[in-house]
Amino acid sequence: MNQTTTSPVARGPERVAIYPGSFDPLTNGHVDIITRGAAIFDRIIVAILHNREKSSPLFTVDERMDMARIVFAHEPKVVVASFGGLLVDFARQQGAHVIVRGLRAISDFEYEFQMALMNRRLVPELETVFMMPAESYTYISSRLIREVFALGGPIAGLVPEIVETRMRSTRPPDEPRS
Ligand code: PNS
Repeated sequence: MNQTTTSPVARGPERVAIYPGSFDPLTNGHVDIITRGAAIFDRIIVAILHNREKSSPLFTVDERMDMARIVFAHEPKVVVASFGGLLVDFARQQGAHVIVRGLRAISDFEYEFQMALMNRRLVPELETVFMMPAESYTYISSRLIREVFALGGPIAGLVPEIVETRMRSTRPPDEPRS
């Protein structure tokens, strides 16, 4: 196939993927997807969104980056970064060819499909690849983790240990309601 020379996505020898999200907090489902991505790609960039709309995040973007770096300290293929603006612009800037997104259930599909097609419209050469986490993580989401934690429920095994420790030290959960 003829490789276009006008492609807006830089094509180096490395297969670079970008895995974007809010990661507030990083869950074991995210860790599972990143680990699977690292087995396929030469580099996987965990790209944490600076989300201006979100009024009360659990962790700052710097704190989220720090925890992700600690979790993947042993894996040189995983790079942690933050971005604002359009994902496709950041992906281009980083020389990524692929956007990785996790699909947990059919309910994720509609939103993911819309995003994938919009991103394709913006940069046709950037392919979105969906990956499934291990079955045991299919019900985990950052939103549910925040909710269970805030109401005093256990979150062990759902997030990396460093995340649980920092959640407990920075934001003690509410007293369980009687
Ligand atoms: O944590 P999330 O909500 O699953 O992540 C959503 C994310 C960060 C992938 C999406 O909101 C995003 O890409 N935002 C950057 C702005 C952008 O490019 N918007 C157009 C998407 S089609």
